Amino acid sequence: MRAAVVVGARPNFMKAAPLIREFRTRGKVDPLLVHTGQHYDENMSKIFFEDLELPEPDLYLGAGSGTHAEQTGKIMVAFEEIVAREKPDIIIVVGDVNSTLACSLVGAKQLVKVAHVESGLRSFDLTMPEEVNRMVTDILSNFCFTTSPEARENLEREGVDSERIFFVGNIMIDSLLFYLKKAERSGILDGLGLREKGYALVTLHRPSNVDDPEVFEGIWNAMLEISESLPVVFPVHPRTRKVIDSDTGRFRRSADLRLIDPIGYLDFVRALKSAALVLTDSGGIQEETTVLGVPCLTARHNTERPITIEMGTNVLVGTDRDRIVTEARKVLAGGRGRGNIPPLWDGKTAGRITDVLEKHFP
Ligand code: UD1
Repeated sequence: MRAAVVVGARPNFMKAAPLIREFRTRGKVDPLLVHTGQHYDENMSKIFFEDLELPEPDLYLGAGSGTHAEQTGKIMVAFEEIVAREKPDIIIVVGDVNSTLACSLVGAKQLVKVAHVESGLRSFDLTMPEEVNRMVTDILSNFCFTTSPEARENLEREGVDSERIFFVGNIMIDSLLFYLKKAERSGILDGLGLREKGYALVTLHRPSNVDDPEVFEGIWNAMLEISESLPVVFPVHPRTRKVIDSDTGRFRRSADLRLIDPIGYLDFVRALKSAALVLTDSGGIQEETTVLGVPCLTARHNTERPITIEMGTNVLVGTDRDRIVTEARKVLAGGRGRGNIPPLWDGKTAGRITDVLEKHFP
């Protein structure tokens, strides 16, 4: 059985790696790894292939950046050709980026079965491009592999038949647990002169947070205030870097707010595990901090991953400076416990997905 496994952007790589490893170990599913090229910088893509021991992509579509329509359109045109030529039995897409949407649409139109890994997450916020990507991908998918129990309700409410839904757990956690030991050997803390639990780690890249300078300024000022208590380390996404560099007057620099280039997977996991506090607007980091028991403040007004709040270490803090600082102080005063690990976030999700696929394609 031939499976086209699609990756495009940074958060896809750690979701595809466990599947490729499982397929290769068992030998029944023949993976064709397709990289759309949505992310292309060395530190947004190549370093993840190395860290996650992913094989070189079989096919690279070179889509690059653009408006949503340009990017999605370019990926669709290139991927349509691949599907016609390579004739995969199934197309596996992960997450919620434009590459996920583009390739599931191509699959549906070419009558090739589509599997969506990380299906059924909903923020109920259609201003978020990822919410549109999730909804369209799910409705078109023959296999909806979910990470969390409420995903089934979300999918059924939108008319997805229950036979298409498979609760398999969180594949991103497969990578986290698999690479945790190796990540501990990373030299990132020494390199930056950081102490265990002696710093805060920040990631911000959502258009709603960084593209509006006023919103971003509020979060920035909160970071500056937090940095008076402990160093704040901020690996800066290229989208965010452009905004910071374009308005140096607004975004005041401080030695304890340390802007660094994006870092690879192993360094990031290391930095995450030892942080006293994480401030983020990422989806996946809400999940990783939950498993690592690290307090996470999410600079958003909603989350498609409510289980990280119900069971884990996540708190939604929005984008207001005072609210972020207050919540950070609570964490630093030791006011937040460890939380629990959600069901099936156990490192065995790729195995469960492969079981389902092998059963349906005997
Ligand atoms: C995309 C995903 C988002 C995900 C994020 C992780 C969509 C709609 N968004 O957002 O869900 O959380 O990836 O990073 O798919 N750029 C570079 N080099 C790169 C990649 C991007 O310089 O390798 C710059 C370009 O200026 C580009 C901008 O970043 O225009 C945004 O990239 P894009 O892929 O459109 O979206 P992200 O913001 O990265």
